[in-house]
Amino acid sequence: MQAYVHGYDEQENRRLQDQAGTLVDLLHSDTAYPAGSRVLEAGCGTGAQTVTLARNSPGARFVSVDVSAASLAEAKRRMDAAALANVELRQADIFALPFAPQSFDHVFVCFVLEHLPRPLEALAVLKQLLRPGGSITVIEGDHGSAYFHPDSEAARRAIQCQVELQRAAGGNALIGRQVYPLMVAAGFEGVRVSPRMVYVDSSRPERVEGFTKKTFTAMIEGVRVAAIQAGKATPEAFDEGIRALYRTAEADGVFCYTFFKGVGRR
Ligand SMILES: C[S@@+](CC[C@H](N)C(=O)[O-])C[C@H]1O[C@@H](n2cnc3c(N)ncnc32)[C@H](O)[C@@H]1O
Repeated sequence: MQAYVHGYDEQENRRLQDQAGTLVDLLHSDTAYPAGSRVLEAGCGTGAQTVTLARNSPGARFVSVDVSAASLAEAKRRMDAAALANVELRQADIFALPFAPQSFDHVFVCFVLEHLPRPLEALAVLKQLLRPGGSITVIEGDHGSAYFHPDSEAARRAIQCQVELQRAAGGNALIGRQVYPLMVAAGFEGVRVSPRMVYVDSSRPERVEGFTKKTFTAMIEGVRVAAIQAGKATPEAFDEGIRALYRTAEADGVFCYTFFKGVGRR
């Protein structure tokens, strides 16, 4: 695995949790699996999405895998705290999964392809694990979809630092726009992608906190040291960009971002 651009520390864990909490309805309200079905969640991380998935489909059996043992340990704590008994957590690499072909009815992948150097190959691997007619759900963001008021060149440059660092680590922070072509190229049938736009103004204080500040700006802020060390920004320029992003969370500010949710069948 390449270096994971966001890292695995406690702050990143909280960020993923805030992200999942704010976006639950927007991203997951139309995802439910029938009782008795077997679902593979690839790249579950600390289980931020797993809790919602498993609660929304109490009769389905989830196998949630991640390459990071530390994230899985946190996911285990979370599953225990939520008293979820329908989730099995396993440490595994998407490119070397220990499962037989066609052993799942559904696959779910959220915010993972963006970190993989070979996202198309990953989709092809996951397709082999689906039974014919089984479904795959792919959710990815796209940092090119971030726009805001007041607009700020410094903020856009700080976001671009994150995009470039993720690219250097083998990922693609602009992958949301490629969900459809990637799923089609991987051979899935009936692919449909729906954009899920997060719109934030101060009349939605929970989104200001949960998304603009604690999800998006926290993520960009999280690459500060790496961006400066890589010579992509001076400390002053980067901090100006972060201040400008926080500025969009004030009473007259607006922040927009779009996620892309694709569903297809084998
Ligand atoms: C941004 S996190 C998303 C986690 C979770 N899906 C969520 O939405 O909260 C990306 C996760 O993908 C995992 N990952 C990256 N490459 C992987 C690989 N090759 N196999 C399995 N997991 C991988 C990372 O360890 C990390 O936990």
